[in-house]
Amino acid sequence: MCGIVGYVGFRNVADLLLEGLHRLEYRGYDSAGIAVLTEQGIEVRKRAGRVAELGGLIAAQPLIGHVGIGHTRWATHGEPNDINSHPHFGGNQQVAIVHNGVIENFDSLRKQLQQLGYVFRSQTDTEVAAHLIAHHLDEQIKLGGSADDLTTCLKAVNATLDRLKGTYGLGILFTELPETIIAARSGSPLVIGVGRDEYFLASDASPLIGYTKEVVYLSDHEVAVLRADGLQIEHRHTGNIRPSIQTLQQVSADIELGDYEHYMLKEIYEQPQTVENALRGRLDMEEATAVIGGLNLTPKELRKIDRIVLTACGTSWHSGLVGEHLLEEFARLPTEVEYASELRYRNPPISDRTLIFAITQSGETADTLAAMKECKRKGHPTLAICNVVGSTIAREADGGIYLHAGPEIGVASTKAFTSQVTVLTLLSLYFGRMRHMSFPAGRRIIRQLRDMPEKIQKTLECHDKVREVADRYYHFNNFLYLGRLHNFPVALEGALKLKEISYIHAEGYPAAEMKHGPIALVDQQTPSVFVIPRGGIYPKVMSNMEEIKARKGPVIAIACEGDRDVARVADEVIYVPDVEDYLQPLVCAIPLQLLAYHVALLRGCNVDRPRNLAKSVTVE
Ligand code: M6R
Repeated sequence: MCGIVGYVGFRNVADLLLEGLHRLEYRGYDSAGIAVLTEQGIEVRKRAGRVAELGGLIAAQPLIGHVGIGHTRWATHGEPNDINSHPHFGGNQQVAIVHNGVIENFDSLRKQLQQLGYVFRSQTDTEVAAHLIAHHLDEQIKLGGSADDLTTCLKAVNATLDRLKGTYGLGILFTELPETIIAARSGSPLVIGVGRDEYFLASDASPLIGYTKEVVYLSDHEVAVLRADGLQIEHRHTGNIRPSIQTLQQVSADIELGDYEHYMLKEIYEQPQTVENALRGRLDMEEATAVIGGLNLTPKELRKIDRIVLTACGTSWHSGLVGEHLLEEFARLPTEVEYASELRYRNPPISDRTLIFAITQSGETADTLAAMKECKRKGHPTLAICNVVGSTIAREADGGIYLHAGPEIGVASTKAFTSQVTVLTLLSLYFGRMRHMSFPAGRRIIRQLRDMPEKIQKTLECHDKVREVADRYYHFNNFLYLGRLHNFPVALEGALKLKEISYIHAEGYPAAEMKHGPIALVDQQTPSVFVIPRGGIYPKVMSNMEEIKARKGPVIAIACEGDRDVARVADEVIYVPDVEDYLQPLVCAIPLQLLAYHVALLRGCNVDRPRNLAKSVTVE
């Protein structure tokens, strides 16, 4: 969703902001803009559409300066157009701001400001905050303050923040305040990059990569002052704090496309490596268990746990469904998977012995964060399985496990899914070995897990076949995705991938459940994608496949290498390596990711930035 970038230092700020905005494009947006402190005051360039179009505008009307803020907007209040784009001016252009989040009481504040004579140009909630800062600046000046004085400006910001309800990450420029950005956070992430004689501001670390490795994650209720000669952070209630500098792990190659045409394809191809990263240092052959360091609970406390709740959204919810099978199978721990958007408002009974895991790639999903906070508020230990280091959920959690998958930039989640499933397998092994699982069983799982990066590499060999299948089926407008047990979540995930990037209607179902309704959809125009590797109930899934064929439904099957029986029934077979049942999601998800990718390409869709979607959904 919306993205923020800011800079104060010695570089040409317009170029730097534009590059930062390009790096934030993956989050999803519909307009972009920048504000630069120039000799003429604050100058703004903004435009609906892509950052490249904004670049054209800036090339035609350059901005010269060394301090500025930029924004990519994903419309919430008011349609995506030039006027609603950020930055927004406040008052008589004394101040310009960029804002992520939602100001919930914007309507009443707008009325109050209109009564005071403020004129609103946009339909946004953000403009309210801009005018409010200008208003409080005027108030401070009446009390003897000065527009070029930092203390006066900070008082105006704090007086404004006192009146805002909702969430915000703010970057603020004052016309009269030289060489300064003020930033404030409540519920919407901000990270500050620390350079030599320069500071960067951003809503996530991607614009900072390659410029600095030293970062400070702003916490809620903190206000930061960025000047070329120093950084000052104060907590709004407790006063000045010493910034805690952390090291950024990402390198430029992580966010570059390299030889790939799209980030989604690059990320699909990274999976042998990302699964290996998720396993690295976490397999203990001696004890036949997993090494899980960050749960922050003692083995005694962990042994007392008798139920697990996994909460997440979208793809992360699907990996949670795989996790449910694994935790119940390996550790005999009753597990429930809750949509975070539902859990946050439900009030299910949760005992002292329940452990809650929020699963999230970005660590910023508003619903997942809210569900987690609600559980924490009730006193339950709440952990995170998360990819983005330093993200809000990672910081709010009582402990957790990082995926170490590197930045996922394609809006359609791919490598995060397989990394989440890997981590959930490790967690299940860990809990299993604390309970019923034998030493030989633990060792067997470790050996099988070790082989997975290679198996995933081998799975990628299906790419040519998938391309062929996509070529034959991309014009169909309805798909069913069917799988059972561990592979039912894979079917859901395959359907989600197809929907989100190719805009084709697709439904995931447990293969046998199809008889109870969806089979009515089956005809020659509705292909069914079967996830049917060998194992447990393979013959049952075969029967389900026959049922579809009997009704003339085209069938695309994901099956194990060498499976001739499937080939006799299905119209198309995409082969994957034969692995244990519980590991099948790790290989079966991959052809489905590739299928969605190629179908979307053939339909002329923007695979990395599908319409209406955002990479991290930071609003409710
Ligand atoms: O960052 P998160 O894992 O919390 O995101 C959850 C969902 O928004 C996300 O998985 C979404 O469904 C993806 N676009 C799926 O590809």
